[in-house]
Amino acid sequence: MNHRVLVVDDNAAIHEDIRKILATEPDTSARIRDLEAELFEGHAARDVFADVQFDIHAAYQGQEALELVRQAVAEGRPYSLAFVDVRMPPGWDGIETIERLWQEDAHIQTVIISAYSEYTVAEIAGRLGATDRLLIIKKPFDNVEIQMMAHTLTRKYSLERALRLKLADLDALVRQRTSALERKQAELAHAGKMAAIGQLVAGIAHEINTPIQYVGDNTYFLQGAFAELLKVQPSTRPARLEYLVEQIPKALAQSVEGIAQVSSIVQAMRTFVHPGTSDAKENVDLHKSIEAAIMLAKHEWKQVAEVSTDFDPALPLVPCRRGQFNQVLLNLLINAAHAIAEDVVARKKDAKGTITVKTRAEDGWATISVIDTGTGIPEAVRSRVFEPFFTTKEPGKGTGQGLSLVHSLITAGHGGTVTFETEGGKGTTFIVRLPLRA
Ligand SMILES: Nc1ncnc2c1ncn2[C@@H]1O[C@H](COP(=O)(O)OP(=O)(O)OP(=O)(O)O)[C@@H](O)[C@H]1O
Ligand SMILES: [Mg+2]
Repeated sequence: MNHRVLVVDDNAAIHEDIRKILATEPDTSARIRDLEAELFEGHAARDVFADVQFDIHAAYQGQEALELVRQAVAEGRPYSLAFVDVRMPPGWDGIETIERLWQEDAHIQTVIISAYSEYTVAEIAGRLGATDRLLIIKKPFDNVEIQMMAHTLTRKYSLERALRLKLADLDALVRQRTSALERKQAELAHAGKMAAIGQLVAGIAHEINTPIQYVGDNTYFLQGAFAELLKVQPSTRPARLEYLVEQIPKALAQSVEGIAQVSSIVQAMRTFVHPGTSDAKENVDLHKSIEAAIMLAKHEWKQVAEVSTDFDPALPLVPCRRGQFNQVLLNLLINAAHAIAEDVVARKKDAKGTITVKTRAEDGWATISVIDTGTGIPEAVRSRVFEPFFTTKEPGKGTGQGLSLVHSLITAGHGGTVTFETEGGKGTTFIVRLPLRA
């Protein structure tokens, strides 16, 4: 309990009086017991007053009081109660003093000690506002009154303080819970969206896969068949067909190449949305997933970066949720591509940047690093990149959910870690670590 009391009066005798009154044990006369019973509804009234020690400070002018209050607040040991005289020439009067004290400390309880009717209650209320931390007593005052006021108001101060702290705690708790809920909600929405897209992609990949196979087979066949055809009677060929004889094999070769590309994209899509996208962990070949993610993110990086891999051949299959891991990769690759694109624009570079995906197996962990030569992450935002909805990108380009999702999928989802190293102007490396044993 805070029992720091400030007495503001130009008269030394008043300081002496109040000091004496508050130094003595509370009066246990019948009257005070009645008052206590009334105030504290009869229970524990003695406990409230027991062992109370007031720490009494004196100020003789308003300015001096203001200094003491300021200092007390700055030191984190504010006064709980001030007794303030009304007339204190030559300085501020009591009302002005209180106005200023309250600007420094909005919680201090205040008792005005007035000798005559310098101000009416209405005037005081007009100046100080209707308030519940102001009492007025008239001189000559009654010792019991002073005692009761000191005890009651310091107690009130402590209760209010406890309430404020409790409210602040609750407030913080509510904010914390709300942001956890928002995060969860964003994750669920994202997961739902990914699941829907996954299904769609799986369907499309399947539909494309069948025709692309026979288009491929037929094109191979045409390539061979045409070569055979050319061997027959070259002399009887009209001259105007010479052009076609040259061009058709080229066209067929190009088609074969294109079809091979489409097939590998379809293959990547199928790897990506492998039915194991469900919640169960399985033993996953991370290298295959990485290759697929690089292929699928190609649209984001191909203009601005070369992508390479640096795989550890000794990396075993890793127990993980394939769909979640794919999302993590995709987010990290797209972030890297964006950072490089931004850097290319900012520094008017001609050369492309690089993204390297590196894997290592060591000490029971699989480490996957996505290394880019982009902008780097500025010092000021480093602590915030994993926050949900934190983005430095313009609307439409980023929603700020990527890394927060990556973080929760890797930590909560896999018992892994995700960290980054970054250097302004040089680039950023995001490092994901997954336990090799489930
Ligand atoms: N490789 C990186 N290089 C530089 N800055 C990065 C990199 N990755 C993330 N950041 C910074 O972290 C912020 C948050 O990334 P996050 O992936 O969570 O959201 P986003 O990419 O902005 O939007 P979203 O992923 O939802 O489309 C980015 O806006 C960017 O400022
Ligand atoms: Mg992102």
